[in-house]
Amino acid sequence: MIRHQVHCAAVILLLLSGCGGCSRSTTTAPVAPAATVSPPNPYLEGWEKPAAALFLSGEQFGYLEPCGCSLTQSGGLARRASLEAMLREKGWPLAGLDLGGTLKRARRQDQVKFEAILSGLKEIGYQAVGAGTAELHLPPGDLLRLFSEGDGIPLGGLLVSANVTLFDTPDLGVPQRFRVFELGGKKIGVTSVLGRKGAEEVAPDGVQTNIKVTDPIAALDAVLPTLTAEKPDLLVLLAHGSTDEAKAWAQHFPQFQVVLTTGGPEDPSEKPTVVGETWVLEAGHKGKHIGVLGFYPDAKPPLKWELIQLDNVRFQNDLRMDVLMSNYQQQLKDLDLARSDEILVPHPSGDKFAGAKVCGECHTKAYAKWEKSKHAHAFETLVKGRKGQEATWVSRIYDPDCLCCHVTGWDPENVVRFESGYLDQASTAHLAGQQCENCHGPGQKHTDLERAFKKDLKSVDRDMLNAARAAAKLNSATVEAKVCKNCHDYENSPKFEFKKYWGEIHHPWKD
Ligand code: HEC
Ligand code: HEC
Ligand code: HEC
Ligand code: HEC
Repeated sequence: MIRHQVHCAAVILLLLSGCGGCSRSTTTAPVAPAATVSPPNPYLEGWEKPAAALFLSGEQFGYLEPCGCSLTQSGGLARRASLEAMLREKGWPLAGLDLGGTLKRARRQDQVKFEAILSGLKEIGYQAVGAGTAELHLPPGDLLRLFSEGDGIPLGGLLVSANVTLFDTPDLGVPQRFRVFELGGKKIGVTSVLGRKGAEEVAPDGVQTNIKVTDPIAALDAVLPTLTAEKPDLLVLLAHGSTDEAKAWAQHFPQFQVVLTTGGPEDPSEKPTVVGETWVLEAGHKGKHIGVLGFYPDAKPPLKWELIQLDNVRFQNDLRMDVLMSNYQQQLKDLDLARSDEILVPHPSGDKFAGAKVCGECHTKAYAKWEKSKHAHAFETLVKGRKGQEATWVSRIYDPDCLCCHVTGWDPENVVRFESGYLDQASTAHLAGQQCENCHGPGQKHTDLERAFKKDLKSVDRDMLNAARAAAKLNSATVEAKVCKNCHDYENSPKFEFKKYWGEIHHPWKD
């Protein structure tokens, strides 16, 4: 019943965001449902206050915020925090457990983001995060620094795994083998295991990685006696493995009432898979949903489960996460990540970016049209946010995750900067915004040749001149897949329709 209602809510949201023509209006303000559409169904309908409630999540893949640039996309820690605040308001004893899979990459930015995400989780009451492959791709030394228990270590003890050992010794206490904590007078026990594929990835045979992964079943056999000796009322396994592995572990260890597993679809089934008496659950990817597990020890079954889609209708901002975001952006600024060699690549053409103004010297009509387009103002969007959001917006102008599509001279697909691409306002203000050369390719050679040609026809090799012109030339029949879609992907531009969008920016002039 509950599941059915949640499904309806999702459908209504789709309707809300799916009315092609109204894309702009839905992105300008916290959406007020149109009068003709009934408001989304309530969540957790019919739930009495549970003895204990757990947020279950995982595989966030780096999405600190809702995925993409569209307000109608679901997710984000801020909305999760706003749900947490509402449930606490109702007096629910609430904690969170995360499967791991926090990040997509392991670059310097991700290390900083990892701390930001985990601080956010800690802030809203998370008690454990499983050591998954994403976490174990970070430098093991960083994991020790972050998760060792001690004074002044806010994330101390949070990382959990029964079968992962760092630096060959469990004595370091990172990760913890398991955790038991009290919630609403009940004891919750939790541990985590990494399956076969993860083990092969983070600790491949014959490679020295400072990470050791042992057999999950043997590891759980070793951990369970101590864990169950603490008599937890509810025992949860964070299973970082395939669905088949998770089911096998559930079967092998009926002590766990709940097994949270990875690898399912982004928008998973809401239905628990029941193995024996154990509920095997999925929470989806990218933080789009949050799973809420209610524990009712005297009821039959003693558990309730609902996956709540974190839409922007029912869930809003959260001041605590605004603070977190602004600290994170400040760190990115201090690190000056746009300059880091880690994300620097040569452009395959060997050419340099000249800037739209330069192109405008000759292509005056194309320039005049572009200057009035949203592309020309894409950088300002990172400074100010959307209309109506300015008051709480945290500037993103030092964030490579945003720069890569909102400035010129980056490769959005790999989030890397081309040599001579945009760096910052002090050195490369002429490349701010989404300019000519993101579509036509870097045009310094073409510019130099045309300038020389203008001055003295004979000074320039015609073949070179024509080759550079040809290199800049695009074809509207192929540009959608080759160029537009690199940025106008499903997440960042869900309403993208080539004909309509191209119609707004086409510029059929050579002068
Ligand atoms: C000094 C003048 C000058 C500058 C600066 C210049 N161009 Fe050109 N560009 C030309 C000329 C002239 C042609 C050839 C036009 C023709 O075939 O009639 C041309 C051709 C092109 C073409 C091919 C048009 C076609 O379909 O044949 C593109 C695209 C183009 N330029 C883009 C750019 C871009 C992008 C920049 C900035 C990086 C730029 N140009 C800078 C003068 C210039
Ligand atoms: C390098 C990334 C990038 C590429 C490539 C790109 N765009 Fe964009 N586009 C953006 C960004 C970023 C915005 C949003 C600008 C803003 O408002 O801040 C945008 C906005 C637009 C808009 C305005 C939409 C609106 O909300 O009114 C149109 C139209 C558009 N793009 C068309 C295209 C077309 C057509 C192509 C391919 C020929 C293309 N874009 C290629 C990044 C890109
Ligand atoms: C993969 C490319 C890409 C990345 C990465 C990206 N954007 Fe965008 N962004 C776009 C495109 C494309 C649009 C235009 C969408 C449309 O109108 O269809 C856009 C639009 C926006 C808008 C709406 C502008 C308006 O006027 O409505 C905001 C705000 C925005 N982006 C912020 C961000 C922030 C913040 C980040 C980093 C967290 C980011 N973007 C990262 C491509 C991207
Ligand atoms: C969003 C991608 C995009 C941006 C930004 C863009 N262009 Fe283009 N441009 C194209 C495409 C695609 C074509 C080819 C159109 C066709 O096949 O009819 C084109 C065509 C041209 C042409 C040839 C026109 C003709 O009719 O032969 C010139 C010149 C040109 N662009 C210059 C520029 C300049 C200068 C800028 C920046 C001020 C710019 N473009 C910005 C995508 C872009």
